Amino acid sequence: MKFFIWNDNLKTGMAEMDRQHRELIKRINSFVEACIQEPRDFDLMKRTFGFLDEYVVEHFQLEESLMLKYEFPLMDNHTHDHNEFCKWVAEASDKISQREFPESLVMEANYRLVEWLQLHIRNRDRNLSQFLQKTAEEKKVPSLLKLIKGDS
Ligand SMILES: [Fe+2]
Ligand SMILES: [Fe+2]
Repeated sequence: MKFFIWNDNLKTGMAEMDRQHRELIKRINSFVEACIQEPRDFDLMKRTFGFLDEYVVEHFQLEESLMLKYEFPLMDNHTHDHNEFCKWVAEASDKISQREFPESLVMEANYRLVEWLQLHIRNRDRNLSQFLQKTAEEKKVPSLLKLIKGDS
């Protein structure tokens, strides 16, 4: 299993989005850590995967609510990506619950949780972030500016 290593190429320019991505990566790595335990600990795998799943939902909800609110023109493509990812998470979750973790799932997990997600962040999320930054500057929306600057 591959760990997800954060790097600055993943920055979107939006502080809250970056913070959530770092949290997501932290949870992915906790799951990877659980997967490489010997002997295999399915309870730990299930727990860490559930923790990851929970955050995926929360994070996608934030992005999708912003897309909807500010009428992001590429919302359909972006949401389609999120749905595809959630579908995989649900399938993987079922397998893990059934205490199955074949090599094919390890390969899929490596792809989905690292490569796929990196691409998503660097393309779709960065695109969304640029749109939101432009919107915030043009319309001077305080709540959006707060998410961009990361003021608490
Ligand atoms: Fe996204
Ligand atoms: Fe994201």
